[in-house]
Amino acid sequence: MKEKILELQKKFNEKLNESKNTKELQELKIEYLGKKGPVSELTSMLSTLSIDEKKEVGALINNLKREISEEIDNMYNRLEMLEINQKLEKDKIDISLPASKIKVGGTHPITRITDELEELFISMGYDIVEGPEVELDLYNFEKLNLPKGHPARDAQDSFYITDEELLRTQTSPVQARVMDANVEKGPIRIICPGKTYRRDDDDATHSHQFTQMEGLVIDKDISLADLKGTLEIFAKKMFGDDREIRFRPGFFPFTEPSLEIDVSCFKCGGKGCPLCKNIGWIEILGAGMVHPNVLRNCGYDPDIYQGFAFGMGPERIAMLKYGINDIRHFYTNDMRFLNLFNRVNGGENNETK
Ligand code: PHE
Repeated sequence: MKEKILELQKKFNEKLNESKNTKELQELKIEYLGKKGPVSELTSMLSTLSIDEKKEVGALINNLKREISEEIDNMYNRLEMLEINQKLEKDKIDISLPASKIKVGGTHPITRITDELEELFISMGYDIVEGPEVELDLYNFEKLNLPKGHPARDAQDSFYITDEELLRTQTSPVQARVMDANVEKGPIRIICPGKTYRRDDDDATHSHQFTQMEGLVIDKDISLADLKGTLEIFAKKMFGDDREIRFRPGFFPFTEPSLEIDVSCFKCGGKGCPLCKNIGWIEILGAGMVHPNVLRNCGYDPDIYQGFAFGMGPERIAMLKYGINDIRHFYTNDMRFLNLFNRVNGGENNETK
């Protein structure tokens, strides 16, 4: 028995030294100290010995058990430490490596112009109102003094959905909606930004979808002077402090008188250059005093209330401001174009003013 014990110990030591990792050690522990292992086997053989032998051999087996257990535990701790260190070494993060570049986005030029305009008009006490893009003929045309069959409808080729519904051709229906819905029929001061649609063939200056921003002020004692003052502030804010504006007669069915409004060229200051086609002035928006028929159609008494309205195209403003020569750039999502307006390039650097 004693030899067997010694032999077992020798064999165990050899195997212990051969163990390469914690997993193998665990297996070794089960192999030696498990129920069917050699130590249990020796223990069960004790019953064949005399009492004195039992005492001596029993103590030896207990010793062996303790030694195996202790050595495995020690070795386990050492190997575990080694494994942790190896893992840490392998997973090391090299913080000196340059980070991969993150692409920065930016604000689309149309959104940028719209935001600037909204900020300006909010500072003058205007509210922002939006309306539906699928609009009723009633608001897009009829209430705005364009009854069915009116020849001025031809100027706004439309996408009809049904006989009574169309994709709005302008943001002006929002003014009709707001006037209509105002139960008190009191003063109004709003701007209405949004998408508009016309059945145009796309080219450098036309797009079947574009944006407009409409302004409407309704109050008592409103005159053209109020309109002029408002648009002068607008022109200076958007195109520079030295800008002047001029009124030319125009025609819109929903305003009377109607005006085309020019801004003095912000490139040459009015002397004449290719941007203003040597005229010194650039056409920027349409406007006028709200037609009495429109006021009446929307429940306002034109003898008590007057108003002015203006409409502008953020595309045109952006094209002039940033020197963009083709309206299609706004909608084709060419990254070379959009990158001019990302946060790194700033976009502002590209202004022609
Ligand atoms: N909605 C007009 C257009 O699209 C512009 C406009 C708005 C003119 C308000 C006058 C007053 O042509």
